[in-house]
Amino acid sequence: MHHAIPDASTSASRAEGSGRVSGRPAGPGCGDDQDMARARQVVARSLARYGRRPEHLLQHLIALQQQFSHVPTAGIDALTAALDVTHAQCEAAVAFYAFLHRSPRGHYDILLSDNITDRMLGNQRLMQLLCDRLGVDLGVPRVDGRVSVEFTSCTGMGDQAPALLVNGFAVTRLDDDRIRQIAALVETRVPLAHWPKEFFAVSNNVHQPGLLLRDLECRDAGLVALFARGPEAVLNELERSGLRGRGGAGFTTALKWRFCRETGDPQKVVVCNADEGEPGTFKDRVLLSAYADLVIEGMTLCAGVVGAREGFLYLRGEYRYLVEHLEAVLQRRRELGLLGAGIGAGIGAGNSFDFDIQIHLGAGAYICGEESALIESLEGKRGVTRKRPPYPVTAGYRERPTVVNNVETFLAAARIAEHGGYWFRSEGTDQSAGTKILSVSGDCARPGVYEVPFGTSVREVLAACGAEAVQAVQVSGAAGTTLAADGFDRVLAFEDLPTAGSFMVLGEGRDLLEMVRNFAAFFAHESCGFCTPCRVGGVLLRDLVEKVATGQASAHDLEELRHIGKVMRRASHCGLGHTAPNHVLQTLDRFPQIYRQRLKHTDYTPAFDLDAALAEARRLTGRDDRAAHLSADETEVLG
Ligand SMILES: Cc1cc2nc3c(=O)[nH]c(=O)nc-3n(C[C@H](O)[C@H](O)[C@H](O)COP(=O)(O)O)c2cc1C
Ligand code: SF4
Repeated sequence: MHHAIPDASTSASRAEGSGRVSGRPAGPGCGDDQDMARARQVVARSLARYGRRPEHLLQHLIALQQQFSHVPTAGIDALTAALDVTHAQCEAAVAFYAFLHRSPRGHYDILLSDNITDRMLGNQRLMQLLCDRLGVDLGVPRVDGRVSVEFTSCTGMGDQAPALLVNGFAVTRLDDDRIRQIAALVETRVPLAHWPKEFFAVSNNVHQPGLLLRDLECRDAGLVALFARGPEAVLNELERSGLRGRGGAGFTTALKWRFCRETGDPQKVVVCNADEGEPGTFKDRVLLSAYADLVIEGMTLCAGVVGAREGFLYLRGEYRYLVEHLEAVLQRRRELGLLGAGIGAGIGAGNSFDFDIQIHLGAGAYICGEESALIESLEGKRGVTRKRPPYPVTAGYRERPTVVNNVETFLAAARIAEHGGYWFRSEGTDQSAGTKILSVSGDCARPGVYEVPFGTSVREVLAACGAEAVQAVQVSGAAGTTLAADGFDRVLAFEDLPTAGSFMVLGEGRDLLEMVRNFAAFFAHESCGFCTPCRVGGVLLRDLVEKVATGQASAHDLEELRHIGKVMRRASHCGLGHTAPNHVLQTLDRFPQIYRQRLKHTDYTPAFDLDAALAEARRLTGRDDRAAHLSADETEVLG
């Protein structure tokens, strides 16, 4: 798929015309009359598009970032004047999202994807080449303000890696030659719109379509069924199908929709979770590229069933290139009477309803895939997870009942409404009905999208994608399961190996500690910082893994890794912290040699006894209960 790249007026040359002076990047305080006027214009355009509700703050900040390569003070002033938001709220949001900045990035802001699969394909070397060619240091805009270069978390292009984002747009299939060309285009100030089209080509790579993907066409038969048979009948069909959410947690979709339908509040909301931030996953990108009508049909069906009028598609910032395509699909559906006011009236349905969808962009925060953080982000705030209950189905977006489903879940719901629950159940296992769409990447001949019935073994997927001499498979992303060869007969299913779809293959020659290192750094970076076990534990894990990798660790450090990992699993507030140590704990068990072979001391025990050192504090405070002892506390936390 070739996607539209902004023309000169909205890309690098636009930024170059912004009046920034070489060697004097405009800092946060730069706000003269001209800046203010331009910031007001950008904000006015964004207000016209999204409206004046403070919930849309993030979208306005993204608009400013895109226009100025940072969020200038003048922009924040314009926002606080136009919306009911404070400077502090704006600053907090900018500080939270990785793609927002208060000081300028380069006119060409380049972010190289840094998943382990990118590393396996040499992204570090390519980064070095790019930096050398451009004479720029990692993370620091060049002194003339022309370019900045940095790593970012997985950009969702694992099937055509290594990849990068330039001013938010994906460039795939990087090699030395492409990197040299990019450096030359930057040096000669060629606007992105004039870069070679093939740089921005994103292929779908659907190698194995199944029940859901075999048929590319969307006939809106699910919606027809809704009008012919009514919402209860559609819900019953969904119940019969046994469909469980495809975003990871596997909650029964019919139950979620029913809970929402049965709440009394008339202002319900439907949200499609297209944040797809799990390293190694990209199938939602493909579904939104090639099957967008079906996904939107699924959302519309959901709205018809639960009684919602408002919908959002929360699209990760890395997929910004899809916005134009998705807007066109939405617009076409409005013109066909399949979206907007009076859906169904055109086909004479007595039970027509109003429902429309807005696309909201994320700005580089993995935690925003978690549904409560996503809702916070939709409300324009930092993506910090909420306490649950209440769950979104009763109090979600603006406290209204909200269904949040994954892209694939909506697509499956549309197919089920068309073909029936038994059709879907005809594949899969008892507890995991239907098929699962996988994103396969890494050491295999045919990386791409594979739709397999639940119950398919890891070995079968490896055979299908042409993977040989495999050392390990990382199922369900960095937060998932690390499998050694003795686990390849396990099957993909909620009852055995649950997966949100990421399937990364690591061949025999790979150093698995590099994978652990990559994931540990990812989680330390992506923690939202709300709770201590994850915020601190993630950093400690990262640093200890680094200590092992650099040959400085002792056997005691491995015990520490286990200990911290278990505390994180047990005591973190949300799924990110619960799953972040999985890869460390599993590789310690399944691949102990990757740690042991690097230890500096295998017989080391710490000389310092922390519990004994606390004796004086216990004496002074008069406390000697179990909780006042480190070991007792640990026993309690670890169970
Ligand atoms: C850290 C974290 C990241 C998540 N990222 C995603 C995501 O990118 N896409 C998604 O659909 N669900 C994601 N989830 C799961 C959502 O919280 C939620 O369960 C899901 O969107 C519900 O939809 P489903 O029932 O269709 O699976 C994530 C969960 C956690 C804890
Ligand atoms: S577990 Fe991590 S991501 Fe989740 S709330 Fe705590 S700090 Fe935030």
